[in-house]
Amino acid sequence: MKTRFVALLGFLLLVFCLTPAAARQPLLARTPPMGWNSWNHFRSNISDAIIRQQARALVTSGMKAAGYKYVVIDDGWEGFHDAQGVFHSDPRRFPNMKALCDYIHSLGLKVGIHTSPGPTTCAGREASYGHEKQDARTFAHWGIDFVKYDWCSAHKVYKPYQMKAVYKMMSDDLKATGRPILYSLCQYGNQDVWTWGASVGGQMWRTTGDIGPSYDSVVRHGLDENGLEKYAGPGHWNDPDMLEIGNGKLSGDEYRTQMTLWCILAAPLFAGNDLTKMSRAALDTLTNPEVIAIDQDPAGVQGHCALQEALTETWFKPSGKEHHLARDDPRQEGLAEIWVKPLAGGATAVAVFNMEEQTAKIGLDFKQLGLPETVQARDLWLRKSIGTFNKNLVVSVPKHGVILLKVKPAHRSR
Ligand code: GLA
Repeated sequence: MKTRFVALLGFLLLVFCLTPAAARQPLLARTPPMGWNSWNHFRSNISDAIIRQQARALVTSGMKAAGYKYVVIDDGWEGFHDAQGVFHSDPRRFPNMKALCDYIHSLGLKVGIHTSPGPTTCAGREASYGHEKQDARTFAHWGIDFVKYDWCSAHKVYKPYQMKAVYKMMSDDLKATGRPILYSLCQYGNQDVWTWGASVGGQMWRTTGDIGPSYDSVVRHGLDENGLEKYAGPGHWNDPDMLEIGNGKLSGDEYRTQMTLWCILAAPLFAGNDLTKMSRAALDTLTNPEVIAIDQDPAGVQGHCALQEALTETWFKPSGKEHHLARDDPRQEGLAEIWVKPLAGGATAVAVFNMEEQTAKIGLDFKQLGLPETVQARDLWLRKSIGTFNKNLVVSVPKHGVILLKVKPAHRSR
């Protein structure tokens, strides 16, 4: 008996040793990755000191506790490849990349870095073309946990048909280091990347061009993901770009719209603001635990638009009276969209977006939305239960705002 046990143990050990490091890696990004990225606020004006300050603020603000754990150093850190082909960070701005990674790790966080398969990054700095394998090893040696591989100048050295192979090559090089490194593809959604991003080893891939700090930009980036839901799931996510919460001059409702959309989409959540100068409102928007739980739901289903309608039915007059318009009334303007995301355990997240220029009353018809006839509803931004409803429910949604509900099947109250 004992001999058999020892033999079995030996066999398992052998199998383990013969399995390449790559195949033994745990599933990265079981839920959408969360963190902070330097690009949206700092552009390429970054330094060791700035990254350390932001990493510390991620912890002291409570963002780390809310789930944000990757600190991604975007474009602007790169120096040069030396005569031996070793990649060095900009010696003035980032004198010791390994020490910086050690520091970020000492805070219980993970580190991400940006590079390009082309000769230069989008900001014109040195990138990985011709040095892929060696750069992957350098990143692993520094302790990097996340690589954003940004197409940028690669169009100068590769033909479009080579794009897939180029992304696969870096994925293989990263896996060969034996370090679990999350791989983030950034080529702006070209060639329907969602159909092949996972097959070349990506845990996430950008579906769009660059986001900006305006309501139009965040809404377009988020809503345009409708229809891509079948390509997302545990370990592989559509990425509509980073958060702009705290950047620009959006209203509180507009910031909540972006956060809600990203959570309904099960999108990666990368804050892009200056964490050392964050308003209370921005922090609250980024860290509402009930809203984040929608993004991080273990079922990992990306939500979709269940209903898109011109606001022809009802809208609020300043008098408080509802004003009814006929469906074909020429005065109709603006749009409302109702999105649903099935959650683990049978509940559903329902988001109602009002793109109109005034507050709108929007009716939710449970049958039309595929919801149970009677539901218990909770308002996740207000963090309070709003009651049990049968067949329908009307919500009042502010201009450019959103209502996010979690609904569960319930018995009809008598
Ligand atoms: C591209 C990417 C951005 C950012 C910049 C850096 O534009 O899409 O997210 O990484 O490059 O130059």
